[in-house]
Amino acid sequence: MSSTNGSLPGGERSEPPVDVHLAAGDWQATLVDDLRVSLLENPRRVAPVWFYDERGSELFEQITELAEYYPTRAERELLERHAPDLRSLGADTLVELGSGSSEKTSFLLDALHGGGDLGRYVPFDVSEEMLRGAATSVAARYPALDVHGVVGDFHRHLHTLPLDGSTMVAFLGSTIGNLRPEQRASFLTDLYATLEPGDHLLLGVDLVKDPAVLVAAYDDADDVTAEFNRNALRVLNAEVGADFDPDGFDHVATWNADQEWIEMRLRATTAQRVSIPPLETTIGFDVGDDLLTEISAKFRLAPLAAELHSLGWDTIQHWTTEGDTFALVVAGRR
Ligand code: SAH
Ligand code: TRP
Repeated sequence: MSSTNGSLPGGERSEPPVDVHLAAGDWQATLVDDLRVSLLENPRRVAPVWFYDERGSELFEQITELAEYYPTRAERELLERHAPDLRSLGADTLVELGSGSSEKTSFLLDALHGGGDLGRYVPFDVSEEMLRGAATSVAARYPALDVHGVVGDFHRHLHTLPLDGSTMVAFLGSTIGNLRPEQRASFLTDLYATLEPGDHLLLGVDLVKDPAVLVAAYDDADDVTAEFNRNALRVLNAEVGADFDPDGFDHVATWNADQEWIEMRLRATTAQRVSIPPLETTIGFDVGDDLLTEISAKFRLAPLAAELHSLGWDTIQHWTTEGDTFALVVAGRR
């Protein structure tokens, strides 16, 4: 047995099991299917999931540390303060969707595994490298916890979750805000179907606030977010052999006041004709043409509770930061 992969004192390997539902070929096929629809739409867009290759995940970690990007700090503060209050819900399994680095998760694990019933942690992410790293470090830190990772797409693979006993599903970082309203509804419906009555959902959501504060969070002075945005084009080039010139696009973040979401775009600064070999097509960009890459919806608590309620979820608790910048919402599946 190799000892290079980190081992526990007893010689036991510390790498937890990881189920992979997104193998390389499947990933590519999905990407191509996705592009077939979204790149030909008006406005043209690409799906956010393509941000998160290894480099994208690293850039996202840098975003979480930016002065302008308050959501991670706000959510960490709420988790630190309120995680112990979740103990009474008695979850046996904690699933974390879009778990990324699992960095904030330790507040939940300390409270629920340390002083509660929690026996299993299921991190779930599209980014395999990130997920394996996070699963391994959580397993090392909590030796008595059964850690079982899943590499998958939360739009397609929720039914594969390895559940045991009563479940809490954490969906943090306001990642639910990156889903379009119709995707959000089908996600909540799928999750309802996967869980049992009395299971819980812990949602971290960013709240509507001064647009200047919001825009700055998605257009930082150091251009880390701009690089993260352009990385989507690098992923497309690498995965499907497209030939976008990422440096020929500017990063643009705007507040859509009607929809109450931030829109992220890439705006062509040079005319480009981009070939997408698997689609057997090329798409032209004139200077000033946009590609929509991401939305980040901002929430109000009452409409969110109403939306959850209409899909089978009863909001039982919420906590907000001082100044109501960010919220943690706990909902129970009916
Ligand atoms: N929860 C972390 C990371 C948030 S970033 C935090 O709060 O800091 C969003 C995470 O969701 C990334 O790790 C990304 O890889 C993952 N992700 C994005 N789209 C996904 C999808 N369709 N299915 C599964 N994971 C996804
Ligand atoms: N869930 C995060 C958010 O909406 C994701 C995110 C942060 C993001 N910054 C971004 C996505 C920049 C794309 C571009 O806040």
